Amino acid sequence: MKNLKEKILELKKQKNAVILAHYYQEADIQEIADYVGDSLGLSQEAAKVDADIILFAGVHFMAETAKILNPNKKVILPDLKAGCSLAESCPPDLFGAFALKHADHMVVTYVNCSAEIKAMSDIVCTSSNAVKIVESIPEDVPILFAPDKNLGKYIMEQTGRKLLLWDGSCVVHEAFSLDKLIALHKKHPDAEIIAHPESETHILKTANYIGSTAGMIDYVKKSSKAKFIIATEAGILYKMQQEVPEKTLIPAPSNEDNTCACSECAYMKMNTLQKVYDCLLNESPEIIVPETIREKALLPIERMLELSK
Ligand code: 13P
Ligand code: SF4
Repeated sequence: MKNLKEKILELKKQKNAVILAHYYQEADIQEIADYVGDSLGLSQEAAKVDADIILFAGVHFMAETAKILNPNKKVILPDLKAGCSLAESCPPDLFGAFALKHADHMVVTYVNCSAEIKAMSDIVCTSSNAVKIVESIPEDVPILFAPDKNLGKYIMEQTGRKLLLWDGSCVVHEAFSLDKLIALHKKHPDAEIIAHPESETHILKTANYIGSTAGMIDYVKKSSKAKFIIATEAGILYKMQQEVPEKTLIPAPSNEDNTCACSECAYMKMNTLQKVYDCLLNESPEIIVPETIREKALLPIERMLELSK
């Protein structure tokens, strides 16, 4: 009898579908994906997909971005409830009023937001190009940055520019415990700390390297060091360890008393292999973006992709 993975691969072929997966997905899902990457890589891949169906193994805003780029393709997400605390922290009505109050500001939004928010933006960015995108804007233009205040603070520190910040954050990256991290580093003084810029400033201050999930994997691959403490969602360890089987990777400790003693994104983990199979079989749940919103949201995404070539 065929196992679930074999059945998914067969269905994928039959239906001319591709599976795009984020590094935070469970290992079984990453294994059957056609492409695994960070938010920028996934948007770039979605922009050039040549298939009838895109199954997005990630969270809602990622699948929505793929749909905005591919209005004529069917984009499906294994669980529609797979949201994101950052996207949820930025309701369109409140954000619209805030942007209107600061109408002289250019609106730069982190890709972790809804299509409605993207439709109100001048340009979108991801964690791997945020600094570059902000640096591309003339210095005399005031910038409103949303929704991640931690990434916003990091960009300010890197560029020396003042940004008007929306008060949003990622629950997963805010859960890292500084005290436990310092204690862990004392046990492993030879380890380098690497962190995602969605983490709070006090965590970033301890880091030898700060970057997107793809940037972190690249750093660990190129580094001459043998041991790393990884401050991002624990799903990244699967791909990272495959890339550097000889190195020691230790997840940064969380404040939460959870089973893995690390940080896991409950939204990302809503997708399971069974849900991937059901979703592909039924071609549902499907992502729908109203055309009026899609057209407006496309421009800031295209601007970002153009600047990221
Ligand atoms: P990147 O994929 O840009 O590293 O962002 C991580 C993240 O939190 C996605 O939700
Ligand atoms: Fe959103 Fe944080 Fe989960 Fe990424 S890790 S999807 S930013 S809640």
